Amino acid sequence: MKSLQEEIPTKTFIKIIDVSKSNAQELLSELIKEMGGLDLILISLSAFNDFCGNYKATPEQEAWQIEVDLKGFVKMAQVALQVFEQQRSGHLVGITSISALRASLYSPIYSSSKIFIQQYLESIRRRIQLKNIPICVTDIVPGWVANERYNPKYASNKYWVIGLKEAGRQIIDAINKNTKQAYVLKKWMIAVCAIKCTPDWFHHWLFSGF
Ligand SMILES: NC(=O)c1ccc[n+]([C@@H]2O[C@H](COP(=O)([O-])OP(=O)(O)OC[C@H]3O[C@@H](n4cnc5c(N)ncnc54)[C@H](OP(=O)(O)O)[C@@H]3O)[C@@H](O)[C@H]2O)c1
Repeated sequence: MKSLQEEIPTKTFIKIIDVSKSNAQELLSELIKEMGGLDLILISLSAFNDFCGNYKATPEQEAWQIEVDLKGFVKMAQVALQVFEQQRSGHLVGITSISALRASLYSPIYSSSKIFIQQYLESIRRRIQLKNIPICVTDIVPGWVANERYNPKYASNKYWVIGLKEAGRQIIDAINKNTKQAYVLKKWMIAVCAIKCTPDWFHHWLFSGF
C-alpha cells in the first residue's frame, strides 16, 4: 500500500483495519474523519484462501471466514451508510462473485457469504429508495480475475479469466455509470442462465479447477 501511495500524486490515506476485530467500525470512522469525508466506499473483502477453496475446511476456519467475509462486510457498510444518510449522498460498492450464482461444493461459506452480500446490497438499495435518499449501490460480480493466487495454467485462459488491469477498468466503468449490478467480464451475464440450469455434476466439474 505504501509503494502504491508513492505512485499516486494526490493525497492518499492508509489505515490498517482488521474487520474481524471489535474496533473495526471505530477505525473506519476515524479514517473517514482523517480524510475529511466519504463519497464512495468499495468493499473488496475476502478471507478466501486455500482452506476456503476445498471442502476440508474446519468449523473454526469456516467461522473465521464468516467473521471476515460476511460480518466484516456489513460492519464496514454500516459505517459508510451512516455517513451517506447524514450527508444525503454517497456510493456503496460491494464486490461479490459469480460464486453467488450457485451453491458451491468447494467453498460453501464463501459462496453463501456472496449470496448474502448480494441480497444485502439489494435490500439497502430498496431501503434508501423508500427513504428517498440519493445513494447509489453497486454490486460488482467478478468471474475469474487473475491475481497472485491464481494457478498460471488457469490464468492463461484468456476467454474466461481476466487480468487485474482490465478488471479494474471494468469496475471503474460500472461505478462511474452508477450500475446496479455489473458482471466482470460482461459475458458472465450470458453464462448466468447456463450456470443456474446445468446439472450438479457438470457445475462441480466446471468449477473444480478454479
Ligand atoms: N480473484 C478472483 O477471481 C475473484 C473472483 C470473484 C470474486 N472475487 C472477489 O474480489 C475481492 C478481492 O479479491 P482478490 O481476488 O483481489 O483477492 P485478495 O487480494 O485476497 O483480496 C482480499 C482482500 O480482503 C482483505 N482482507 C482479508 N482478511 C481481512 C480482514 N480480516 N480484515 C480486513 N481485510 C481483510 C485483504 O486485505 P490484505 O491484503 O491486507 O490481507 C485483501 O485486500 C474479494 O471480495 C473476492 O471474493 C475475486
